[in-house]
Amino acid sequence: MDKLLIRGGGPLSGEIRVSGSKNAALPILAATLLSSEPIRVSNLPHLHDITTMIALLRSMGTELLVDEKLCVEINGATTKQTTAPYELVKTMRASILVLGPLLAHFGRARVSFPGGCAIGSRPVDQHLRGLEAMGAQIEVDEGYITATCPNGRLKGAHILFDMVTVGGTENVLMAACLAEGRTVLENAAREPEIIDLANCLIAMGAKISGHGSATITIDGVEKLGGCSYSVMPDRIEAGTYLVAAAATRGNIKLRDIDPNTLDAVLVKLEEAGAKIEHGEDWISLDMEGRRPKAVSFKTVPYPGFPTDMQAQFTAMNAVAEGVAKVSETIFENRLIQTHEMNRMGANISVDGNTALITGTERLKGAPVMASDLRASASLVIAGLVADGETLVDRIYHIDRGYECIEEKFLSLGADIRRVSS
Ligand code: EPZ
Repeated sequence: MDKLLIRGGGPLSGEIRVSGSKNAALPILAATLLSSEPIRVSNLPHLHDITTMIALLRSMGTELLVDEKLCVEINGATTKQTTAPYELVKTMRASILVLGPLLAHFGRARVSFPGGCAIGSRPVDQHLRGLEAMGAQIEVDEGYITATCPNGRLKGAHILFDMVTVGGTENVLMAACLAEGRTVLENAAREPEIIDLANCLIAMGAKISGHGSATITIDGVEKLGGCSYSVMPDRIEAGTYLVAAAATRGNIKLRDIDPNTLDAVLVKLEEAGAKIEHGEDWISLDMEGRRPKAVSFKTVPYPGFPTDMQAQFTAMNAVAEGVAKVSETIFENRLIQTHEMNRMGANISVDGNTALITGTERLKGAPVMASDLRASASLVIAGLVADGETLVDRIYHIDRGYECIEEKFLSLGADIRRVSS
């Protein structure tokens, strides 16, 4: 099993390109199942989760072509069976996103019930309630969700989500595109990835308005056509490198990123003492050699501070000046990386969903274990600001969400390499 060996060093500096967004690409690939003609999706990141979603579509007999740049052409109309098997779903929870499209286009779907993961139980009750409100019949047996459309076609409905759910909004939004009549989603997620998915669906002929706000309206159509679509840049990947630069007192520039998708993160980085400049598709961060100041925050749904950036900021706070209070309100177990950081000499106390972080000048390198995608990234950042060597184990978590992470960090001057155990 591969590991990442990091030797703590000085400030990061240089320029890198941001890859396509994993969390936009996955629902967009699922949305191709809605179409009756080929869809070409580009700017896909070379990540394990993307490969898994492609394997899932292939397992359903959907014809797809992948070119050398990982541009994918998918014809949803060629799908031969509508079951998403346990073997694939257990490796990637986002497989649940094929449920709505399969049900809406083919009238039936059988998807293995996604389990929880390190950060929480990750229920899908909101996905199922939304589809039931549109007339779906849902049964759960032998670890599978079986959804059918007794009346042959889903019907538009007025749906209020009990809590803001990105995946729930995406699943129901996709299903509503082919439903009969109007669907209104209230308390919908507002993440940029929802906007990207809606823009792709509109390019396929869907009638959607309000995406990006808490109320999304969809007027169902009989069928959806083909299109070519380029996935938005990954705002969480971008934020991760910006925080790494801030923690190491560095100076970097990111290309191919929309700064408007990172407002809350940029505000917190400026609070930490970073000098931020940006244009339409680039962001630069310069600490001017200064140690970051501690920043406190609470994770909330977009446009608030993103839970996917919490672990990375916790690593920066571990070496910042002052004391930070961090509250994780989205997932029940997403402060797990703090225990590994304390093994590196961090001073973090956790009480329920709140961490109190007293910054120290430097951490000490140690062998650590990754537990989930963003926690792994935070341990890499911790290794960059630690004296000596840090060996991060179980980095398959990282390979799910960060394209070429060691190459990108190497090009910014980090001392990092992949080693096989
Ligand atoms: C998406 O997960 C992202 N994944 C996550 O990113 C991200 O952390 C999360 O949204 C929140 O922004 C993808 O887009 C593939 P949710 P998702 O439904 O859709 C509860 C990463 O690191 N909930 O918005 O699964 C749930 O338990 C990953 O890239 C229900 O109770 O998240 C959680 O507490 C990690 N019932 C909260 O809502 C439901 O039916 C938010 O979950 C659905 C969700």
